[in-house]
Amino acid sequence: MELVTLVELDGVTKNVLLPDDSRLEILRGIDLAVAAGDHVSIVGRSGSGKSTLLNILGMLDAPSSGSVSFRGDLVQRMGPAKLDRLRGRNVGFVFQQFNLLSGRSALENVAMPLSYAKGREYWSRNRVAAEMLDRVGLSHRIESPPEQLSGGEQQRVAIARALVRRPALILADEPTGALDVETGGAVMTLLDDIASEADAALVTITHDVHVAARARRHYRLEHGVLSPVELDLAFRETALGAIAEAEAGA
Ligand SMILES: Nc1ncnc2c1ncn2[C@@H]1O[C@H](COP(=O)(O)OP(=O)(O)OP(=O)(O)O)[C@@H](O)[C@H]1O
Ligand SMILES: [Mg+2]
Repeated sequence: MELVTLVELDGVTKNVLLPDDSRLEILRGIDLAVAAGDHVSIVGRSGSGKSTLLNILGMLDAPSSGSVSFRGDLVQRMGPAKLDRLRGRNVGFVFQQFNLLSGRSALENVAMPLSYAKGREYWSRNRVAAEMLDRVGLSHRIESPPEQLSGGEQQRVAIARALVRRPALILADEPTGALDVETGGAVMTLLDDIASEADAALVTITHDVHVAARARRHYRLEHGVLSPVELDLAFRETALGAIAEAEAGA
């Protein structure tokens, strides 16, 4: 199958100035191309720059140097309004800190990305959001605001919100970090299913080998450098087997 590049990073660096005036090089010369239908996992130690990289892939943050293109268009040449539209239409983020709106119901949170859509997508937003909440197993909690939900329930609301607009690019930062093995397996299956239904690209940051094993390609971020890594085949089969068992038992 021919894979069409969706988002591409070329020589991306990210530096920040620390309060003591020293410069922190978070990312150093990252090259990465992610195609429609691709599934990439990224691992790396805490503080290695994974979330920073994901924010750049999702066009929420700009690199210090290097370029980002989306469907062949250079992001740095786009104005803010165009960029907001492009991101809203095409990128689904599962943030590490969930970033849900407090005081708003789960349904309102999940329907939020659709409130910027037009026509049928807009008018059907509550029904579509309710369906997505059902798929993450929260149909009984659609009226509850995040502060009344457990960490894992909030994570599932955040995942429903990321998927509700069927984005072309799904970026998930530790999507199962707050979930038990069974719920995590079910949620990853949902991410995979929605991604393949829409031929979306999925980039997953994870510390969980079961989650990493679901990806087609694997990378490690270390000292600001991104390198491809192989998941050992035997380990990969064991990890997938464990997921299948967990799902069969669910
Ligand atoms: N705006 C900023 N100003 C200063 N330092 C920053 C900024 N953003 C990120 N950093 C630093 O850059 C490094 C990478 O941060 P990042 O959040 O990308 O790490 P991470 O790999 O996602 O870590 P974790 O696994 O803990 O989530 C950290 O040392 C962080 O403190
Ligand atoms: Mg992070």
